[in-house]
Amino acid sequence: MTAYRDCAHPKNSYEDQALHVESDNLGYFCCVSRLKFLLSYAKYRLKSDNEHDIHSPYIFEFYNNVICDENPYYVYEDIESIRAKLLLTDLAIQIEDHGAGSKVNASNTRKVKDIAKNTVKSPKYGQLLFRIVNRLKPQTILELGTSLGISTMYLAAPSKKTQVVTVEGCPNTAKVAQVNFDKIGFGNIRLVNATFDDFLPGYLAKTNVLDFVFFDGNHRKEATLNYFNQCVEKAQAHTVFVFDDIHWSEGMTEAWETIKQHPKVTSTIDLHHLGIVFFNPDLSKEDFVLRF
Ligand SMILES: C[S@@+](CC[C@H](N)C(=O)[O-])C[C@H]1O[C@@H](n2cnc3c(N)ncnc32)[C@H](O)[C@@H]1O
Repeated sequence: MTAYRDCAHPKNSYEDQALHVESDNLGYFCCVSRLKFLLSYAKYRLKSDNEHDIHSPYIFEFYNNVICDENPYYVYEDIESIRAKLLLTDLAIQIEDHGAGSKVNASNTRKVKDIAKNTVKSPKYGQLLFRIVNRLKPQTILELGTSLGISTMYLAAPSKKTQVVTVEGCPNTAKVAQVNFDKIGFGNIRLVNATFDDFLPGYLAKTNVLDFVFFDGNHRKEATLNYFNQCVEKAQAHTVFVFDDIHWSEGMTEAWETIKQHPKVTSTIDLHHLGIVFFNPDLSKEDFVLRF
């Protein structure tokens, strides 16, 4: 009997995922929406494929060697030690919320350790971002949604030649992120304190092509589609977009459905928490729902 690869590790079990979601969005998810999310995750677990079901050679290779790569890269420890310190600090900051919000804490004063616990990508997904960038080697990366800069560091780590621009609307959150960037000492991160609406049109006017974009802020349908529609104009065959929280709400699932239908989009990979979008015309127009 052939043992097929399936990179949903036991530690990422359904229960773990459910707990992760609950702690991420505790106050926001009322019983009904939490149940809907859990149902959508259960459906994903039933529907998602492993390598056995992938007929595209490119996606097969990408799944096995990038998404499921379990090698420990040295930089993971450096970034995780910064996260560990954030989780211990008692510093509290005033938050300016320009997005859908985490809603874990309705107050505008938040402890940095709570942001680190509830808002920031987990090691599993941060390290996946690292591996995707390590494989694609984009010259430039745009990240919408810096928070404390954990995902930014994962994006910037594979190559100092990659210029990373990351955008954060909340000034005090951006200040904490900048301290983290100074600590890690990468010279290839430019942090912009602005709202996405203020920043994007000017940035895109000066940009010929976007190599890689990570959309991780303002998880609302209209906002997500608005950012996508602006950015897609600058997408070429080698471009890859990654969207966070594509099933966070019904609106986000609808946004993901619309993105998949866009004529420039070819293959997409749905990992439930994250969606990866390819524009390469050599790939089939197909959505791969893969276990992770
Ligand atoms: C989910 S967090 C980003 C997490 C980060 N990428 C990580 O994993 O380490 C989203 C961030 O986007 C910011 N944000 C949300 N909507 C925004 C907007 N319209 N303009 C600028 N920043 C926004 C929030 O302040 C928040 O810090």
